[in-house]
Amino acid sequence: MKTERLQKLENLVKEYLKSKNQQSPAHRFDHAKRVMIRALHLAEAYGGDKELVAAAALLHDVEETYDAKDGHAERSAQKAEEFLREAGFNQLETEKIKELIKSHSSEDDVDAQSIEAKILFDADKLDGIGAIGIARVFMYAGKLGMGVGEAVEWYRSKIEKARKRLYTEEARKIAEENLKFVEWFLKELEGELDEI
Ligand SMILES: [Fe+2]
Ligand SMILES: [Fe+2]
Repeated sequence: MKTERLQKLENLVKEYLKSKNQQSPAHRFDHAKRVMIRALHLAEAYGGDKELVAAAALLHDVEETYDAKDGHAERSAQKAEEFLREAGFNQLETEKIKELIKSHSSEDDVDAQSIEAKILFDADKLDGIGAIGIARVFMYAGKLGMGVGEAVEWYRSKIEKARKRLYTEEARKIAEENLKFVEWFLKELEGELDEI
């Protein structure tokens, strides 16, 4: 799915995040792009408005600095407005996209209501489960000053939280498959940490 305004939005987000020093290293453009691709894949199976899903995926973490995770969904939704206007989305579409962004985080108790919101939530969580997910966790944890052991503990709690809340069967299937590798890696790591 590549409409002209979606391409414009992608360019705007890419430029913005490139110049934003404080952005979390785990929540830069590459994350947004992977979430968009994953979300579009889920939308193939579950329906929903693909352009809205893709736009929300590109923007969902646009205001996530590494030291301020709390409230980032709300802040990203607010910031999304100017990008959406510039890319040519109308007011009604913008409001819908903002709603999707607001319910994407497992840190917040905001339940996803529409199929688009559920797809965005799931696609985002899947980017945290797998090889990329592991890399993102350690980069993020390092930026916050955590050690390896702390990062592993934090990652395990994040996985448990996300696993319980996935909305779609397809995402649950992918998560369980990827978790085999993650679990293997974390066990190895914990074993080596225990040696000292
Ligand atoms: Fe987020
Ligand atoms: Fe995200």
